[in-house]
Amino acid sequence: MNFYVLTLFPEMIENAVGTSITGRAIKSGSISVETVNIRDFSTRKTMRVDDYPYGGGAGMVMEPEPVFRAVKSVEGKIGRRPRVVYMTPQARVLDQTKVESLAQEKNLVILCGHYEGIDERVLQETVTDYISIGDYVLTGGELGALVLIDAVSRFVPGVLSNEESSQFESLQDNLLEYPQYTRPEVWHERSVPPVLLSGDHRRIEEWRHEESLKRTKERRPDLLKNSYRVICASYGLPETAERGRLLTERISRYGEYMDYNRRKLQKTSFHMKPWNLLLLAMPGAAGDAAEPSAETASAVRYDPSVPFAERFRGLYGSETPAVLVGNGNEIAEASAFLERRSFRVIAEVSPDTFGDERLLQNAALAVREKTLHFH
Ligand code: ADE
Repeated sequence: MNFYVLTLFPEMIENAVGTSITGRAIKSGSISVETVNIRDFSTRKTMRVDDYPYGGGAGMVMEPEPVFRAVKSVEGKIGRRPRVVYMTPQARVLDQTKVESLAQEKNLVILCGHYEGIDERVLQETVTDYISIGDYVLTGGELGALVLIDAVSRFVPGVLSNEESSQFESLQDNLLEYPQYTRPEVWHERSVPPVLLSGDHRRIEEWRHEESLKRTKERRPDLLKNSYRVICASYGLPETAERGRLLTERISRYGEYMDYNRRKLQKTSFHMKPWNLLLLAMPGAAGDAAEPSAETASAVRYDPSVPFAERFRGLYGSETPAVLVGNGNEIAEASAFLERRSFRVIAEVSPDTFGDERLLQNAALAVREKTLHFH
């Protein structure tokens, strides 16, 4: 991934990105960070790039032309219009979903302002995204640009080692991370929670989820409104359940699974909450056996003759978002049924998506972005 930072203070960027993990990533070629000095594009002999504001008032405003030329210089270099991010306190505050979405880009231009801001007209012509790093005012956009580069780089393949990997982490589910402990087992008469010494991974995961919820409620209750419990329901052959699992794991660390091949489940009422996210995996991909052999079907207790509405007759939503994995007629039928049961279908994911990790990641990210603004 290539970052281009348009700034009046290139050394501020260069000094910071050269160290630690971003420094290592630059050396290994996973990312590049190029600074563009806006002053080099001044239209004046004095090399000034700011002027008094029309209408009066304190401070200076950065002129449009040098900024425009600086953006065009990057555009010329990469041969296409890049995404241009303007760092400003007058924007939505950066969050992890936005970070991941920006990490999908090959090139990212980051524009840093100084003084009282930049002439509005050049922003209108060139900027695609406005980002703030918090509700306070800094002296310029450079620290914001560094924050953005750091956060985005963590999602660029090759930047983090396996140990540092960001597959599971704080904020993925819009929850804060659970508490961590290392040796010694007792320190200042405080013991490590016994469940962590149990070796029982299921119980440990449950405990961590509970602690994450507790901590988020206490410290950042605002995050909870965008936190969903993913429930993956599937029926059909094991390939279908596997697709459900692959997508669920890329959306949430704490997914739950329901096997709707089971008669008992088909007869049980289940009322999902607005903060559940139903992921429904249906058979019907080209690669699946169209007619399962009798043994396979009976081994997983799959009976293809049960109609959709019958299979899910106990299932109810309440403005619950739903994602469908499948194709063709099944999707249309499922979609109409779920809407009648007060689910809201926010995305459909084709089984073809599962052949390619990048497509799958993008699908998971798209689902997470949609849930963010759902309720
Ligand atoms: N420039 C000045 N303040 C800023 C902020 N809070 N976020 C991003 N860029 C800024």
